[in-house]
Amino acid sequence: MIKVDISNVWGQVSLPDLLALEKEVFDAHMTLSERTGAGNDFLGWLDLPVREPTEEIKRIQAAAEKIRNDSEVCVVVGIGGSYLGPRAAIELLQGPNHNIGKGKGNPQIFFAGNGLSTRHWNELMRLLEGKDFSVIVISKSGTTTEPAIAFRGLKWMLERKYGTDGANSRIYAITDPAKGALRQMADEQGWETFVIPPSAGGRFSVLTPVGLLPIAVAGIDIMAMMNGAADAKEAYDIRSFENPVWLYAACRNLLYRNGKTIELFESYEPGFKMLGGWWQQLFGESEGKDGKGIFPATAEFTADLHSLGQLIQEGERNMFETMVRFDAPEQKYVIGSDVKNLDGLNYLTGKTLDFVDEKAYLGTMAAHVDGGVPVITMDVGELTERKLGELFYFLELSCGVSAYMLGVNPFNQPGVEMYKKNMFQLLGKPGYETK
Ligand code: PA5
Repeated sequence: MIKVDISNVWGQVSLPDLLALEKEVFDAHMTLSERTGAGNDFLGWLDLPVREPTEEIKRIQAAAEKIRNDSEVCVVVGIGGSYLGPRAAIELLQGPNHNIGKGKGNPQIFFAGNGLSTRHWNELMRLLEGKDFSVIVISKSGTTTEPAIAFRGLKWMLERKYGTDGANSRIYAITDPAKGALRQMADEQGWETFVIPPSAGGRFSVLTPVGLLPIAVAGIDIMAMMNGAADAKEAYDIRSFENPVWLYAACRNLLYRNGKTIELFESYEPGFKMLGGWWQQLFGESEGKDGKGIFPATAEFTADLHSLGQLIQEGERNMFETMVRFDAPEQKYVIGSDVKNLDGLNYLTGKTLDFVDEKAYLGTMAAHVDGGVPVITMDVGELTERKLGELFYFLELSCGVSAYMLGVNPFNQPGVEMYKKNMFQLLGKPGYETK
């Protein structure tokens, strides 16, 4: 089980206050598990974890194997919920530099269609030059502007390089089972397709083909991840404060009610950045509505202690931290000695880097707590595929419970449409003319 430690929030919230929330958190959990609340037609993600590979998962594994064998690069096209999950998993498990040294047999993975930057596009074109590549295009609607533009260009490149049939065998579409532009294109061209269940919203889709295919292409054991998620489904069904989901959901709501309107989700792992991005969408899009919501911010320590540290320590007292910890890896780096000792580091000779990291963590937490910033700690344990699957499901469940406690529908996102309408009007898209 993931351990949630709230011993560093006392002083900002009290035990009686937390215990007083018991009925509220119980009701929120029941609303979710009994599927009686707002947005209950988007709860398909609750049932995604499986112990044995389904036919769909076997197809995903086979497609991933084909891509690994015939491609030096795999471009994954998608945005938001159709992008963040796979990137988060790959970067956390394999590191932000995971592409270095990869090629055919273990292709590099680049992400496209998650923005509109021409520089990013030009860079991708340079990276693809002379390379054998495949494209995974992910879009529930098939009409989201950013991935649609990127996919149009990549499809054209594939057709020019491999001919129509060759291109068709290198395109994998992950989309709605029945409707939408991408579904129609895939059916017409005969691309291999995988389904985004209509009952799982984008930010809850990492355990669907959206996450699983790119993650499998990276060589990550997706069944280990699924088993971790299945562990979570069983383990976090407890109806009491023994359940870390309850502790996290209740505690963050209590802190919010006490004026802590910003949550800083952080870790000491550089590979965690994109998981932070995934978490940001999960909680931000689920809770930020009806004039409510904790602002989800992320940070990477110790790097950001040298940029955000001052603000955290002494800025406006409207913030709490959620620190995600992983066990130190088995392979250690031992700090050596230096005859001159001009850097003054000889006092650490023989100590490991993770020993220093641990002290930095403890020292930073004590400083922030003293400065009035409560810290929730989430101890995940080993950084493995299985544990990551558990973490994904744990956070999704916590988000559902927390958002119901906040009194909002966790599963819609009406606000996302506004910028699109304005952009379409400015672009002159038919049907969006200025009234
Ligand atoms: O969670 C969401 O709904 C969004 O982030 C979508 O996933 C994102 O806008 C991409 O949409 P689509 O998959 O339809 O291209």
